[in-house]
Amino acid sequence: MNESIPQSHAATTFRPRFDIGAQRIDCGREPDVATHHAADQFASWPLLDYSDCDPTEDQAAINRWLTGADLGGRDVLHVGTGNSSVARLLAGKARRVESVTVAHNEWQHGSRLGLPDYGVHLLNKHSLAFAGRFEPAAFDCILDNNLASFACCQRHLERYFETLVRLLRPDGFVLTHWLGMQWTLDVGVDDVEPVWRLDAGKLRAIASAYGLSVDRQDELFFLRRTRGAERT
Ligand SMILES: C[S@@+](CC[C@H](N)C(=O)[O-])C[C@H]1O[C@@H](n2cnc3c(N)ncnc32)[C@H](O)[C@@H]1O
Repeated sequence: MNESIPQSHAATTFRPRFDIGAQRIDCGREPDVATHHAADQFASWPLLDYSDCDPTEDQAAINRWLTGADLGGRDVLHVGTGNSSVARLLAGKARRVESVTVAHNEWQHGSRLGLPDYGVHLLNKHSLAFAGRFEPAAFDCILDNNLASFACCQRHLERYFETLVRLLRPDGFVLTHWLGMQWTLDVGVDDVEPVWRLDAGKLRAIASAYGLSVDRQDELFFLRRTRGAERT
């Protein structure tokens, strides 16, 4: 673990790297695990805690792809733990799986599984704490079926992308899914700006601002470092 915060994340002046029309540029609040608790309390269906739910349709599609992928000896980061389906699927196959959640029950459920080489982290992915949690270039594969679904503002979404790029190995990839790309938190409380409902064009605009190329395979989207791009 590396608890030190990269210098670039601590910068106080934020200059957006891309413009897809977001109005809320800086929410002014350091993201933490309670950021969307009000929405979670208000919703009458599971929003943040999927510890007791089957994987969503998009997570299930990613898991089907993982079933056929060769991840032997690879390090995997799963953002959005759910019922730890990824860790259970890859146990004994990947070298290690780390996952991140804002839901205490998901953290507890995953921690109690007792899977070797599995770590669950109760962290907001937009936070400085997450940015400093892992060593640079720690992961070959990063999974997040809700890349922008919980974006509190552009500043913190951009911090997350900066962290993703920092955590990726040179030949690593981020994998997301069309369904989760199009979904944003929208329950009437603490809603996410609709601009963060991504389509392929928006995803490409965001990714290219971070030196990443997007490769679409049906409903799966792979983000990889653009060849020759400088590391951001
Ligand atoms: C709708 S559930 C999906 C769970 C699982 N990925 C699936 O699709 O079955 C959303 C997941 O994202 C996590 N989550 C939401 N906002 C987050 C954030 N800002 N940082 C980290 N995890 C977050 C929730 O805790 C939960 O694990």
